[in-house]
Amino acid sequence: MSSHTPAIVLGGTGYVAGELLRLIDAHPQLELAAVLSDSQPGEPVAKAFPHLRSAYPELKFSDLQDIEARLCHAPVSALFSAAPHGVSAALVDRLLSAAQIAGTRVHCVDISADFRYSSAAAYEAIYHHAHGAPARNRDFTCAVPEHLKHAPTPHVAHPGCFATAALLASVPLLKLGLSEPTLFVSGITGSTGSGRKPTDGTHHPQRHSDLYSYGALAHRHTPEITACARAASGIKAQFNFVPHSGPFARGIHITVQAPLAAPVSSAAALHDFADFYKGCPFIQVSGNAPRVKDVAGSNYAHLSVVTNGRSIAVMCAIDNLTKGAAGGAVQWMNRLLGWDETLGLRAPAAGWT
Ligand SMILES: NC(=O)c1ccc[n+]([C@@H]2O[C@H](COP(=O)([O-])OP(=O)(O)OC[C@H]3O[C@@H](n4cnc5c(N)ncnc54)[C@H](OP(=O)(O)O)[C@@H]3O)[C@@H](O)[C@H]2O)c1
Repeated sequence: MSSHTPAIVLGGTGYVAGELLRLIDAHPQLELAAVLSDSQPGEPVAKAFPHLRSAYPELKFSDLQDIEARLCHAPVSALFSAAPHGVSAALVDRLLSAAQIAGTRVHCVDISADFRYSSAAAYEAIYHHAHGAPARNRDFTCAVPEHLKHAPTPHVAHPGCFATAALLASVPLLKLGLSEPTLFVSGITGSTGSGRKPTDGTHHPQRHSDLYSYGALAHRHTPEITACARAASGIKAQFNFVPHSGPFARGIHITVQAPLAAPVSSAAALHDFADFYKGCPFIQVSGNAPRVKDVAGSNYAHLSVVTNGRSIAVMCAIDNLTKGAAGGAVQWMNRLLGWDETLGLRAPAAGWT
């Protein structure tokens, strides 16, 4: 019998599910047990993810009955949900309930927005549909792993990709009192941030060689960023967020600007940030401007800080699919299962992707 912990992935043919599969293959303690596909059960996983053929040459997508049976059979399982928001909560709730009845232990990291809010009402106010499992909210904590050592719940809701980068850049500003609590956030994301299904706004010919904003000052992730920043820093800040579509596939670059609370040099601010993230293996603070290519495909976040006597600017680059989704989820799962948080995640970026 394998000594590995079985991993189950929901959201089968999606981009984040593919990234989870890639990371699980490299993980020393997790072993992929099954991947749910709503649209392609029984089809080869390698057909949806040709780049993963060497890792999963024979594996086929599972259906929900198979997934449920596996969770009820294995004594301990790791459940990752990369299903769409509005779908994930009910799916996860059904599987966790079945495991509870069977007496097996399951830890879940949900990468969708479904369990990021403190209440169903708060979720419904943003997403305009009924929450799929309101009673489950209390079993989930939403935080970036660097901002909360121990989750007080058995399950975790991973903040979104823009939120991860914005929070990594802004929580130290607030918590260390470096800036006023009015933050101006500009973010640029690669096209994988919009998922696998092409739409007018996300299709390659539209995005290639172009750069444009969308949802300026009205993006639905702003309330999530605001709530997570408050939980992590204790400060109620105002986030003014303008997201942009970038002409690359993977990665996010965020710039957070704010008025300085008191004059501080760039060197001192950099020192404060480095100190804040001391002991966080995936955060690298330096005087070099963060670049998307230096983190793409990795779980690392690169941060830099500058000041000019009046304002402070923090730049952060992450990979949206890795640190902003699948990698951050594996990092949380490592902790939930009592392992070193870096297991399976230390590989550096490829560089010239
Ligand atoms: N892309 C990112 O950078 C990013 C970052 C952070 C968080 N997220 C979140 O992660 C989740 C996945 O994102 P993604 O970019 O991978 O999206 P995606 O490429 O659109 O994939 C989502 C997958 O979910 C499955 N699905 C769709 N309807 C379903 C249903 N009714 N029941 C069960 N499964 C269903 C589909 O696969 P099957 O038909 O094979 O089941 C689909 O391919 C989303 O909640 C998203 O908000 C994404």
